[in-house]
Amino acid sequence: MNYTERVNQHLDRYLSNQGSLTEAMRYSVLSGGKRFRPILTYTVANTFGTSLDLADSSACAVELIHAYSLIHDDLPAMDDDDIRHNQPACHKKFGEAQAILTGDGLQALAFEVLASDQLLPTKTRINTLQALTHAAFEMAEGQSIDLGVASKTIGIETLKNMHRKKTGALLSCSVQLGVLVSGCSNEDAQILNQFSEHIGLAYQIQDDVLDVLTPEEVLGKKQHSDIDKNKPTYPSLLGLSESKAEYESLYQQAFSSLGELSVDTTKLQALTKRLQSRAF
Ligand code: IPE
Ligand code: IPE
Ligand code: MG
Ligand code: MG
Ligand code: MG
Repeated sequence: MNYTERVNQHLDRYLSNQGSLTEAMRYSVLSGGKRFRPILTYTVANTFGTSLDLADSSACAVELIHAYSLIHDDLPAMDDDDIRHNQPACHKKFGEAQAILTGDGLQALAFEVLASDQLLPTKTRINTLQALTHAAFEMAEGQSIDLGVASKTIGIETLKNMHRKKTGALLSCSVQLGVLVSGCSNEDAQILNQFSEHIGLAYQIQDDVLDVLTPEEVLGKKQHSDIDKNKPTYPSLLGLSESKAEYESLYQQAFSSLGELSVDTTKLQALTKRLQSRAF
């Protein structure tokens, strides 16, 4: 079983009984998504020889927060996008009010999943919860900045800060959760923290570039969403080729960070290559 199948199986189990919210939660979480965040968590745990059983709750929790963020991101009050994962966005299928509640429910479930994982020592459980709550807050803050700067002229540092928060924080957290459940050395944890910050920022720059270049059939979501809403993005500030150079350079820095780790990084390198070369 690969990591995607593994996280899907556990998500399916966690999403089996949420009463009237079950259908919409399952619709949004189990409809697709590349699952890069849980894959990062599992790959970090595996890199340190940690049992994947200890990483399941973290892998699911981070994906549940991500899924909630996408539902709210697509709402009319935010990006007003109708398609996600090649199907109608949650609010198009269930209505706006239910979509808001579905996101709320997923966020709460994420924390419940972590808090009730009896396999984790109490200290690890608290640390993972603290990491995820912090990242979820940063994501919301980044989204708030994103909405506030639409149609405005901003500098690259403001844009970078926004990208780090709205997207980088949760990707970094995925790595951090793997670190926390594996209990690796402080040195390796620090190196992985740098690695995660590089890939976190690179990922949103890539998303901005994909929004310009990639058709809806491939993206599974609307193309030109940013341009239509006058969002400041890397391509709008720096142009396409400089944006690409920027994320390529961040991936190179991510590879360099991996080179400093005390353990075999073959799998983390392969995953980083997958992130770097993603088509959607
Ligand atoms: C999309 O993230 C939104 C961002 C935070 C960049 P992904 O491209 O990882 O979304 P899915 O889950 O794979 O569709
Ligand atoms: C999303 O950024 C960041 C989130 C926290 C969801 P975008 O608005 O660019 O993501 P997409 O392009 O809609 O997936
Ligand atoms: Mg958005
Ligand atoms: Mg969006
Ligand atoms: Mg986007």
